[in-house]
Amino acid sequence: MPKLESYLTENAERFEKELCQWLKIPSVSADSRYVDEVRRSAKWLVDQFDRLGFSSDLIATEGHPLVYAERLEAPDAPTVLVYGHYDVQPVDPLDAWTTPPFEPTIRDGKLFARGASDDKGQLFTHLKGVEALLQTEGHLPVNIKFLIEGEEESEGNAIDEYLEENGDDLACDCLVVSDSSQFGPGQPAITCGLRGIIYGELTLEGPNRDLHSGAFGGTLTNPAIALCEMLATLRDEKRRITIPGFYDDVETLSEKENRQLDELPFDETHYAEELGVSVLDGETGYTTLGRRWVRPTFDICGLTAGYQGEGNKTIIPARASAKISFRLVPNQDPQKIIAALSDQLQAICPPGIRMTFSAGVGSPGMRVSPESPWIEAAAEAIRRAFDVRPVFMREGGSIPIVAQLSEKLKAAPLLLGWGQDDDNIHSPNEKFSLADFHRAIRASAYLWHELAKVKA
Ligand code: BES
Ligand code: MN
Ligand code: MN
Repeated sequence: MPKLESYLTENAERFEKELCQWLKIPSVSADSRYVDEVRRSAKWLVDQFDRLGFSSDLIATEGHPLVYAERLEAPDAPTVLVYGHYDVQPVDPLDAWTTPPFEPTIRDGKLFARGASDDKGQLFTHLKGVEALLQTEGHLPVNIKFLIEGEEESEGNAIDEYLEENGDDLACDCLVVSDSSQFGPGQPAITCGLRGIIYGELTLEGPNRDLHSGAFGGTLTNPAIALCEMLATLRDEKRRITIPGFYDDVETLSEKENRQLDELPFDETHYAEELGVSVLDGETGYTTLGRRWVRPTFDICGLTAGYQGEGNKTIIPARASAKISFRLVPNQDPQKIIAALSDQLQAICPPGIRMTFSAGVGSPGMRVSPESPWIEAAAEAIRRAFDVRPVFMREGGSIPIVAQLSEKLKAAPLLLGWGQDDDNIHSPNEKFSLADFHRAIRASAYLWHELAKVKA
């Protein structure tokens, strides 16, 4: 067996053990109670880079630290920047987990833990791909930089500021991101589009305290009802978003792009079954994959109002709030949409209710041309490791900084997702297939040589 192959086989179990160590650190960036753990997760990563002989840095920010590491030792070869995130989503509902989220457990060839797929497991494949090459060949065929953030899951802007101020240090030819999915089991993919997002919280306040719903019901506006009514008007019966101008800049696909979407072997019945719903629903006039990847959407992500405990409590709550998100597609401007949305909410807020709406800066959707020598190189690495050619697909999720990184650095984005749709990212029982983990490490080890052949 060639050296690289035997190195990967002999060390496979150790790779899993190391990933498990990392997964034990509860780096939940959205929850301030975990701030020390988030930092520990970053430090663990720095330590890994040190062992790989990278020069690495824990960069302090106003929020969670950034991790930067580089090994620049191939003077005439391209430079690759690998982006990822070391933070994870909150774990609730905790009682829905079969084994605790921060006690990584292998069942049925899958590794269960929060962050197993999103994104620690996927990102770690590149550290091990690099390690395998260094251990078997002694040097890297390309220059590699890693920039890993700890605020991806909580919309922090530490990385935006870092990019603004230190963009020059990040100069690169292409940008490798493994934080998305394959098309299906046994069918790897290269992601050619991501949706953008705006996320906000709408709060309505009515009476100065919770009121008896019998003594006072029928005399004033119930903030929870007002919230339901307002949210319901944001969509019409065709599931189109009613914010004025919302669709003005939405890109339409070329015939070729539509054909490529339709050619993907997507099984709607299996999709619905796996999600446990009897029918699918969404914007009229588009296929399921179209609605998932290339059309914008509105969702309610959390609703809070009134009594949440056991049994009855007859009240009119004093306040009600909703966390809402819009997924955006390329060309839609998040700032413009946030402004239009705020105006619309003000306009439909009933009298007697005080409303506040707060939203982050949002992030735009992005698309990647599948026709580039970088993509071809990545496709070849994936084909060799997975034994099938990757298909080109899009994703409905968002990785906020990627569009900015690739624009600002003028670097070709390579979105090489190793996950699966049923990995339960952001859900209870998140998992990552160990077979995919090891194939992805192999693909990563091949990737650096394939990229080295591209003329920068
Ligand atoms: N890795 C995901 C993005 C993703 C999910 C890509 C599914 C492709 C398929 C990422 O960690 C994520 O969850 N992003 C958030 C961003 C938000 C918190 C600003 C998202 O999409 O909700
Ligand atoms: Mn992610
Ligand atoms: Mn995520």
